[in-house]
Amino acid sequence: MQKMVIEGGHKLNGKIRISGAKNSAVALLPAAILADSDVTIDGLPEISDVYTLGDLLEEIGGTVNWEDNQTVHIDPANMIAMPLPNGKVKKLRASYYFMGAMLGKFNKAVIGLPGGCFLGPRPIDQHIKGFEALGAEVTNEQGAIYLRAKELRGARIYLDVVSVGATINIMLAAVKAKGKTVIENAAKEPEIIDVATLLTSMGAKIKGVGTDVIRIEGVPTLNGCNHTIIPDRIEAGTYSIAAAAQGEQVLIDNVIPQHLESVLAKLREMGVSIEESDEQLLITPGKQLKSVDIKTLVYPGFPTDLQQPFTTLLTKAVNTGVVTDTIYSARLKHIDELRRMNANIKVEGGSAIVSGPVQLEGAKVTASDLRAGASLVIAGLMAKGLTELTGLEHVDRGYEKMTEKLTNLGAHIWREEMTDQEIVQFQNS
Ligand code: EPU
Repeated sequence: MQKMVIEGGHKLNGKIRISGAKNSAVALLPAAILADSDVTIDGLPEISDVYTLGDLLEEIGGTVNWEDNQTVHIDPANMIAMPLPNGKVKKLRASYYFMGAMLGKFNKAVIGLPGGCFLGPRPIDQHIKGFEALGAEVTNEQGAIYLRAKELRGARIYLDVVSVGATINIMLAAVKAKGKTVIENAAKEPEIIDVATLLTSMGAKIKGVGTDVIRIEGVPTLNGCNHTIIPDRIEAGTYSIAAAAQGEQVLIDNVIPQHLESVLAKLREMGVSIEESDEQLLITPGKQLKSVDIKTLVYPGFPTDLQQPFTTLLTKAVNTGVVTDTIYSARLKHIDELRRMNANIKVEGGSAIVSGPVQLEGAKVTASDLRAGASLVIAGLMAKGLTELTGLEHVDRGYEKMTEKLTNLGAHIWREEMTDQEIVQFQNS
């Protein structure tokens, strides 16, 4: 078991390349189940969630060949409707995409309820509502979801909650269903467009992705194809925030700036200079940052996945900023850890009130979830002295080579094996 050690205070300078989008990757890989022949996906991020999903595709009989760490060939010809009630499905949230993809392909699936970051309650009722509307019988038996259908038939489905996962899962189940499916109040995230692009390359008929009404005309078969993933807007946002917090001048490369408009607008409001070009962002922080309020919303609003890193940035801004997460109101586990590092943050009525500026101080802290981990890494870069971060399994699920990428920018950051005593302390914490 390892910890990350960060010697804070060193300025970030230079260029950082953004990897493929985690939240696309985790849907694109299960989507390959729906094809009848080889699917090649390139530009995948080198993160543990991707490799876990690759293993799950093999468990159901797929042939998964990695050409390099970022390009995978998936041959679904021998896949079967193997039940996956336990094991690796519990490791990540996105294993729920096996429900939609296997239901779409085999008319049946058994998938254990997914794991992933604890961000408060994360129901999947809208996924199930969609599957049922398409004709599946859905039951929860001892913690696994059983889906069975004689055949799937297109339907009109109104999502009561705008959900990324439900929108993608229903698309996966509907692309081969008989007739027409309409998803109303659909989510509009770029990752949904990326998945629809892959499915369309396979031969699916999908219109309206990126709007809140998606129309799907079912087709009997889907073919293999090649697909290149979009860049990770959340990774790009994380490093933009790190650059604003501790940078002199940082060039973020391989990014689609339009995917980050809400975040860039907030950084500019704080006094950060940002030059945009087609695939790059040049970030130069102002001398003194001003506080802003942020409220997370569904895309294109401010992403919940950047709320925690942004909270860290606010600790160095003048005045008070209020952070409200309307998507996951309980996504606040990083706050106690930031307080350990001398942050002045109060939680009132579900909002975090961050008063600044303060000089953060190095401390021993733990990542409770993926983006909490990112927020604490940024805090470590800003802090005086040494920060030791445990809970790295969360960070490794979603950030490719984080220590290497930050080292290239001039950060003093490395990983060390934990002592037996530290492991015991961590496990008891
Ligand atoms: N919701 C329901 N019922 C449902 C589905 C969702 O009530 O059936 C609620 C959720 O509780 C939440 C809101 O709707 O309050 C939005 O949830 P959504 O379904 O959009 O989230 P998700 O698909 O489970 C994805 C990302 C998350 C990201 C959210 C919101 C993946 C694998 N995960 O989760 O990413 O926070 O969308 O944008 O795509 C992360 O990357 O750190 C991460 C947690």
